[in-house]
Amino acid sequence: MSVLEVRNLSVELMTTAGVIRAVDGITFSIDPRQTVTIIGESGSGKSTTAMGLLRLLPDDLAVISGHAVLDGVDVVTEPKKFAKLRGRSVALIPQDAMTALSPVHTIGRQLGEAVLRKGAAPKAEVARRSLELLEQVRIPDPAVQLKKYPHQLSGGMLQRVLIAMALAVDPVLLVADEPTSALDVTVQAGILDLLLELQERTQVAILMITHDLGVARLVSDRIHVMKDGRFVESGEVEQIVENPQTEYTKKLLAAVPKLGHWDGEPHADSTQASLDGARS
Ligand SMILES: Nc1ncnc2c1ncn2[C@@H]1O[C@H](COP(=O)(O)OP(=O)(O)OP(=O)(O)O)[C@@H](O)[C@H]1O
Ligand SMILES: [Mg+2]
Repeated sequence: MSVLEVRNLSVELMTTAGVIRAVDGITFSIDPRQTVTIIGESGSGKSTTAMGLLRLLPDDLAVISGHAVLDGVDVVTEPKKFAKLRGRSVALIPQDAMTALSPVHTIGRQLGEAVLRKGAAPKAEVARRSLELLEQVRIPDPAVQLKKYPHQLSGGMLQRVLIAMALAVDPVLLVADEPTSALDVTVQAGILDLLLELQERTQVAILMITHDLGVARLVSDRIHVMKDGRFVESGEVEQIVENPQTEYTKKLLAAVPKLGHWDGEPHADSTQASLDGARS
């Protein structure tokens, strides 16, 4: 059974310039342990899709229609029921770690809050779980890092903290909106490797949002190519990369600086990159 089943989803945004149909009738699904990627140029509607699915768009500014059934609850027609799921069944990994975390609270406090979202627990248990989560995302010296404030960690380390916070609630779906585009390339590879490793272990499904076909190629099972709020092309990763059908997808492919041989596996050197990432 699918973790997420989206049918004919549309999102209209009320802007000063009028109503924009930012998402225009998209249909897709994600199975457990699957990574499905939405790729498209800037303004194509990727973030609006992610925010709409998480019901993070204000009701007076966005009108959402269609169906999106997540873990048995229709996000569109059952918003109250879904509010209870958000931050539990589904977690968001945002693009900019620095602004996603509070600068005035320690990593430990913020991770602890995420752990408590799953359910009340004694202090010692929260501390134990926080340490375990930082180990899972391969942060060195976790006990030391828990006492630090966000500005004392590198961008790559902060992104790992956000992944730990997302995992704290044992979600069935992770929504990652450009989780690595603020990072440099080696750190980026380490984070993507980490996500795949965690997926292997926890079976979590991932909705990946990116404008980068290099990223999509590395992590995806299926890719949907988005343009002006619609999917212009959908398919298995090999099909989209090896045999793109639309000019738009070909252009996205051409924008990837270097495409090595495609063997369906992450690059052999990405393990090294992930070690580099862990050290940064
Ligand atoms: N707050 C807003 N006010 C007005 N228009 C908006 C707002 N947010 C998004 N839009 C418009 O909605 C459309 C889709 O935007 P969206 O942010 O979903 O694109 P995106 O694919 O995520 O782009 P990017 O790659 O730049 O993040 C665009 O035309 C954008 O201009
Ligand atoms: Mg976006």
